[in-house]
Amino acid sequence: MHGSNSDERKCPYGHGATPLTTQFGAPVVDNSNSYTAGPRGPLLMQDVWLIEKLANLNREVIPERRMHAKGSGAFGTFTVTGDVSKYTRAKFLSEPGKQTEMFARFTTVAGERGAADAERDIRGFALKFYTEEGNWDMVGNNTPVFFVRDPRHFADLNKAVKRDPRTNMRSATNNWDFWTLLPEAFHQVTYVMGDRGIPKSYRHMDGFSSHTYSFYNEAGERFWVKWHFKTQQGHAHLTDAEAAQVVAGDRESHQRDLYDAIERGEFPKWKVMVQIMPEAEAETCGFHPFDLTKVRSQKTYPLIEVGMMELNRNPENFFADVEQSAFAPSNLIPGIGVSPDKMLQARLFAYSDAQRYRLGVNHHQIPVNAARCPVFNNHRDGQGRVDGNYGSLLHYHPNSFDQWQGQPEFREPPLRLSGDADFWDFRQDDDDYFSQPRALFQLMDDAQKERLFGNTARAMGDAPDFIKQRHIDNCTRCDPAYGAGVAAALGMSVSAELSPQPELAD
Ligand code: HEM
Repeated sequence: MHGSNSDERKCPYGHGATPLTTQFGAPVVDNSNSYTAGPRGPLLMQDVWLIEKLANLNREVIPERRMHAKGSGAFGTFTVTGDVSKYTRAKFLSEPGKQTEMFARFTTVAGERGAADAERDIRGFALKFYTEEGNWDMVGNNTPVFFVRDPRHFADLNKAVKRDPRTNMRSATNNWDFWTLLPEAFHQVTYVMGDRGIPKSYRHMDGFSSHTYSFYNEAGERFWVKWHFKTQQGHAHLTDAEAAQVVAGDRESHQRDLYDAIERGEFPKWKVMVQIMPEAEAETCGFHPFDLTKVRSQKTYPLIEVGMMELNRNPENFFADVEQSAFAPSNLIPGIGVSPDKMLQARLFAYSDAQRYRLGVNHHQIPVNAARCPVFNNHRDGQGRVDGNYGSLLHYHPNSFDQWQGQPEFREPPLRLSGDADFWDFRQDDDDYFSQPRALFQLMDDAQKERLFGNTARAMGDAPDFIKQRHIDNCTRCDPAYGAGVAAALGMSVSAELSPQPELAD
């Protein structure tokens, strides 16, 4: 059996096999035979061990994450290799050679907790750095862009790609109707329908912050930052046919690959890089720097080396560390901040809120989530409190005893904001949905393009022709060869006249 370690399954106190007790430590007399009146029953209520056993079974399952439910995790080490201290005051990045413990969780997005790994989907790339100034979480994906750029669309995206309310099956119609009505999704759709849509394993993919975040330094200067995590294992992908074969034989192919590689001592590594834009350039750069559906030119904003992350330890217990891990873009530290990206702003609320529901208000005390530096927040009580709850320390602020004081020396530089409050339609600001996916398409060789066409046609499945035609039109807008290729793969034709771009209702 994978990973069974007979030594660790023995009693830690040297008893050989561990004697069984109730959850409050009393010996359990018999773990095979229930306590009954006579050999044929009935049961007696005083069989408290049976009741405890049944009651615990009923409570084993916790809610799965609403998206990114299926995942794999590992602990590791981040080592600084480049000097970015002039951009950020973050202490864990202060000097080359410095090391910080970390935890990573990789995921598929649409599938449920039991879904197969080798599915066509984007992959989550969530990292937690246990720094001396608090936990910093980078909750990214394996693609540099996202489907939508207004958080109003996020819940609908999930509904469209997950199960239909009537059939309880995934629906190509729902999925492609939604995607094709939002042309800003086209860039991400091109990534997902291309080779990156099914990485061979989690080790063989890059990670991205996708969003613009920020750095700020001791001098109060701010920079807009995009993060890149470059796989050192090389890129490897599966075709649809290869993935079907893998899934038929192994639904946990990504989990097995990551787990086994780490057990073998082949520790996967990613080079950590950033693209940096000085704050003021956001006004003059000629594009929308906080648009999550666009990449940033590496010619203008070259990749700067920050460090290397290595995953080198499998969790001892999957539920304890992987299932209960809680990543949140709101977990920030001095020197690393957010940006005005409205998607990112919505995420600052969504994650901890989900985790208060999924894991409880004290989820920050679960060991995998707990900071490795002093935590002193004066949040008290709540379900599942497992520390001393700050004992008798006074519990109000302001007070006359210097307790619970803020730390103004860590203030972020002020951010100038302007504009009238309204339901701003980003389409009026920028309706260029196709030039970046065009560049992506034109980078593909002929074989990659053929796979893109075939993957798209298979994924569109039984969606009605008018939705397929809308997608062909979007492909043609991107590049006539893209439109012709997808049309041919679908057994359809390119339109003589492109359908009008769908207008979004308010
Ligand atoms: C998981 C919300 C966009 C990456 C989640 C979870 C929620 C959520 C509620 C489950 C959290 C949990 O139960 O622990 C949202 C919202 C978004 C958004 C409201 C947009 C408005 C994004 C984007 C990315 C992303 C743009 C990547 C750039 C992830 C990842 C996970 C996740 C990697 C799994 C984290 C883990 O491994 O536990 N998201 N999300 N999400 N999201 Fe998002």
